Amino acid sequence: MNDRKLRTLAVEDMTLLDAAAELTALAAEIAAHDRAYHQNDAPTVSDAEYDALRRRNDAIEARFPDLVRPDSPSRRVGTPVAAGFEKVVHAKPMLSLGNAFSADDVREFLARIRRFLNLPETEPLEIVAEPKIDGLSVSLRYEDGRLVQGATRGDGAAGENITANLRTLDDIPNRISAEAVPAVFEVRGEVYMSRADFAALNVRQQERGGKIFANPRNAAAGSLRQLDAGITAERPLRMFAYAWGEVSRLPAKSQGEFLELLRTWGFRTNPLVRVCSGVDGLLAQYADMESQRATLDYDIDGMVYKVNRLDWQERLGFVSRAPRWAIAHKFSAEQAETVLNKIDIQVGRTGVLTPVAHLEPVTVGGVVVSRATLHNEDEIARKDVREGDRVIVQRAGDVIPQVVAAIDDEAHRQRPRFVFPDHCPQCGSLAVREEGEVARRCTGGLICPAQAVERLKHFVSRDAFDIEGLGGKHIEAFWKDGLVKTPADIFRLPEKAEEIVEREGWGQQSVRNLARALTERRTISLERLIYALGIPQVGRATARLLARHYGTLEGWRTAMTAAREPDSEIHRDLINIDGIGPAVAGDILAFIAETHNAEVLDDLERVLTVEPFRAPATQASAVAGKTVVFTGTLETMTRSEAKARAEALGAKVAGSVSKNTDFVVVGADAGSKARKAEELGVRTLSEAEWRELTG
Ligand code: IVH
Repeated sequence: MNDRKLRTLAVEDMTLLDAAAELTALAAEIAAHDRAYHQNDAPTVSDAEYDALRRRNDAIEARFPDLVRPDSPSRRVGTPVAAGFEKVVHAKPMLSLGNAFSADDVREFLARIRRFLNLPETEPLEIVAEPKIDGLSVSLRYEDGRLVQGATRGDGAAGENITANLRTLDDIPNRISAEAVPAVFEVRGEVYMSRADFAALNVRQQERGGKIFANPRNAAAGSLRQLDAGITAERPLRMFAYAWGEVSRLPAKSQGEFLELLRTWGFRTNPLVRVCSGVDGLLAQYADMESQRATLDYDIDGMVYKVNRLDWQERLGFVSRAPRWAIAHKFSAEQAETVLNKIDIQVGRTGVLTPVAHLEPVTVGGVVVSRATLHNEDEIARKDVREGDRVIVQRAGDVIPQVVAAIDDEAHRQRPRFVFPDHCPQCGSLAVREEGEVARRCTGGLICPAQAVERLKHFVSRDAFDIEGLGGKHIEAFWKDGLVKTPADIFRLPEKAEEIVEREGWGQQSVRNLARALTERRTISLERLIYALGIPQVGRATARLLARHYGTLEGWRTAMTAAREPDSEIHRDLINIDGIGPAVAGDILAFIAETHNAEVLDDLERVLTVEPFRAPATQASAVAGKTVVFTGTLETMTRSEAKARAEALGAKVAGSVSKNTDFVVVGADAGSKARKAEELGVRTLSEAEWRELTG
């Protein structure tokens, strides 16, 4: 009996043999979907189809409990961690790019660069426009001209060692023969599969009964992350080189020159790269590429603009994880029409109620979408989206799909308008909207289970504690069964090993692995800890600012407790940190003032070692740890450049002068801040003296 016949048989009519056969088939099929979804980020079925398979599995098991297989999907929680590849820490992190969605965003990108570098309008600013290849970025390390390591991007800081797989690509030279090549030379680029090769691969896969890929990107990902490099070798993968990582010497003065060198060294570079200038030049190139997009033999999802001069790139530097000198300009999103079955309200970690649209599954740009965000109450009202409507759904790059509009037909007009709840659907507490806020929040705070779970999930998320083998799904399951209630409980999980071993999807080995992963994370940096707490408005950048400013957990907690006094020096010091305003400070202080949060922190201190903030080693300098204020007009650099440079050297930049200020750098026409410095006896420096001090 083939699979499809099995599926149409009603569970009540099944014989023991039918049931056993179908449970075997379901276990394999669901496991394959799990792998596709969790390890390749490439769902092969819609959520609804997946849920239906699991429900069918559960129904058969309920009727034939003796047939529950050891590998049944019902016995597994979450997913196994992708195993098999060694981890590689990137010598230089692999960064992402900021996004531009409109002509104004591009204009602002150029203006920002000019402001930062203090370039007059008359000075030409060349920008290289490159197609943004929709593939996977990789880093290739050459030492003395030999390829010694190839890695995936991973989370940007560390990826997977896939050297053997990358060696099989024709576009990647194993040796660079050129004599001019620097001793250490890391090349970065995008691995992709052409559309023609993708189509042919799927035909072959179908013939062999192998996996069918949803789009060229998934096919490239699946082919590259094969434990058997022999399989990768059979897959037609290509690569465009476009950037560098660690290099002992930079062999070019511009991006254009760099690409040309790569080409002569045997790499493939994209032939559609152009040097442009001015916003009009970039937009014309963008329009040209967008019109060619459908006829290219590979997928591109936008353009990447990069400042051509490498000395300017160097000066512009980075903001958090993206360079100031480059931006991605995405093509407009792909859309599709479908039916909105239901609007569901989710409750986030800070209590915000978010409406989510459950859709009739539809393919948008090669991916099946069955859920989309509706953002908030006002958006639903503005678009007048009602349950049962036909709607337009849009997917842009890797952002969450969204409902763009409802089709205004007769049926739409007859449906009732959607009424946004004024009570939390999880805990029943009142949900309120503060003046001037778009979000409606559950007031249940700590009694709201949704908030508690979401906070814990945030605590273990990638940029927070990032505990290997312990994801959001596990946290949910542990929470539900009372194994974890507070963050510190997570570190006490090994005490409950006996109980966990008995759980679905766990065994001796996975519990041992969890214990080891927890031990590794017991020592944590102050900035990660602050971020992990999930204080509203405190993201990674703000957490880092706080860690840098206060140095130690004790220092930070003491200061935050003292800063509650609004007129105190310590309060002023907090809001004076560049990047932290009164609103963010308010959220931090409210968080610390909450007794429960203080208890959570006390408890965490018992199980953790929190490392004091350490400025990166390369940044040791005469100004490391010092507080600097810039005032007046600087001549050789703009204020933003001065600030970025000071911070890179480990200094803290403040907006106003106090007795905690170490230096005030005084430019032309300085006013009250220079006077205040004098009054307080704070050391003032001229711009030239500052440059000397900072090398
Ligand atoms: S440059 C620091 N150039 O886009 C700059 N990236 O959204 C690093 N990408 O992770 C990237 N084509 O995977 C650059 N011509 C191109 C690109 C490109 C595709 C990808 C890359 C990166 C992502 C950022």
